[in-house]
Amino acid sequence: MKLSIPSPFVFSLVTVLLLACTNTMADRDPILSKIDLDADPPLAPLPPPPAPLDNPITQAKADLGMKLFFDPKMTGDASLSCGDCHDPKQGWGFNDPISRGYPGTVHWRNSQTVVNTAYLGKLFWQGNAKSLEAQAPIANKGAVAGNGEDDVMEARLRQTPYYIQKFREIFGTELPNLGDAWMAIATFERTLSQRDTPLDRYLAGDKEALSETALKGKELFEGKANCIECHNGPTLTDEKYYNLGVPRPLEWEEMGLNTVTFRWEAYAKGVHEKYYRDWKDDAGLYYSTKRPTDVGKHRTAPLRYLAYTAPYMHAGQFYTLEEVIDFYDEGGGDNEFTDGTHGLENKTPILKPLKLNDEEKESLVVFLEEISGDEIRLKLPEVPPYEVMPDVPGLTQARAKRIGLETYLARAAQQ
Ligand code: HEC
Ligand code: HEC
Repeated sequence: MKLSIPSPFVFSLVTVLLLACTNTMADRDPILSKIDLDADPPLAPLPPPPAPLDNPITQAKADLGMKLFFDPKMTGDASLSCGDCHDPKQGWGFNDPISRGYPGTVHWRNSQTVVNTAYLGKLFWQGNAKSLEAQAPIANKGAVAGNGEDDVMEARLRQTPYYIQKFREIFGTELPNLGDAWMAIATFERTLSQRDTPLDRYLAGDKEALSETALKGKELFEGKANCIECHNGPTLTDEKYYNLGVPRPLEWEEMGLNTVTFRWEAYAKGVHEKYYRDWKDDAGLYYSTKRPTDVGKHRTAPLRYLAYTAPYMHAGQFYTLEEVIDFYDEGGGDNEFTDGTHGLENKTPILKPLKLNDEEKESLVVFLEEISGDEIRLKLPEVPPYEVMPDVPGLTQARAKRIGLETYLARAAQQ
């Protein structure tokens, strides 16, 4: 008989052995035993934005990506663009608690800023896109976001001389390919990083860069308030998932249009009918993993551009940073995935009441505001117009419309 060992089993066996070794080594080794293996990565300045090897950043590609980001040709009915839900004047997000949606719909989550997304390995509140290149098509094809259809969006690009020329120069293709459009949009987003903030300057050695109050806030952030346990490293996120007990948005029960989206999302994500009917809250990571232990968990939010991105949390549950700090001061909150409503008590044990006084709360707010740095503003680009392709001599778009293209072509063929 042939014995086959499933590879996940071998893998976990090796992991267990390795972990056992590291622990005993740490116990015995006088240097290793002094290292705190649980230490949180410290706050750090933002490095230059990374880019995948197959999509290096160039100025020409970023410029093209900017046009595409603001061009409604890239959505279903050509009436909205990425820039309508990621508005530079609204912190490159959207300032309603729950984002606007495709015309006739509302979204179901808060629109996040695209500033500094270059550094994230997990995108969306649910962390379900792994790169900007993969995220952009999800956004512009999703039914309650862009609702675009591949062939139509591509045809529109191919009907626009500006794009034909630029795609030719940058990607070397005869006509624009949609896949390259996502590459260009991702490149543009990578240029939207704010690296020159008081925090970056402070961490680079300029001890005057943060105000005295902000410094008190920083000390609390890294100490008594324990924010650093999850909000750490250069982006201030560990990119892990937690259920903090953020209260459930009532829109999903009280507003018809929101209810439609919520139900559709749960259904489309393949939730079991029993849960689909009972649950009234955003199950977060559970939609990706279908593990009950992941219910209600969301990705730790990065905190570098907060001054411009209110309201906060996955459905904009808090309007101000003061409210956010009060929430944490009380040790987080409760929702139906933490309070046993469905037999699930999934709140992270990390959050504990903090007992902060008013001055301490205020300095945390000042710290979060100051580290946002300057706002990234931009003059909106002009959207390049369509033109009829020059392979029908003398045909203008207006004329084609007036006489009907088919009649014209038939007549042109006869002549
Ligand atoms: C109708 C509104 C809407 C449109 C259009 C839209 N987005 Fe979004 N975007 C959102 C919302 C809402 C979220 C959060 C959704 C979630 O987490 O499920 C989001 C999330 C994101 C994120 C993740 C940020 C993070 O911190 O993880 C990126 C990046 C992004 N959008 C880029 C784009 C790009 C690029 C386009 C155009 C190709 C686009 N969006 C179009 C509303 C929109
Ligand atoms: C246990 C991990 C954890 C700890 C500790 C923690 N956070 Fe968070 N934080 C998260 C997660 C997860 C989210 C997203 C939650 C959601 O939307 O459901 C978040 C969201 C936020 C947001 C909203 C950001 C946005 O763009 O909407 C702010 C602000 C914030 N945290 C600040 C803090 C501060 C200040 C502290 C310390 C007092 C802190 N956090 C402690 C995990 C944590």
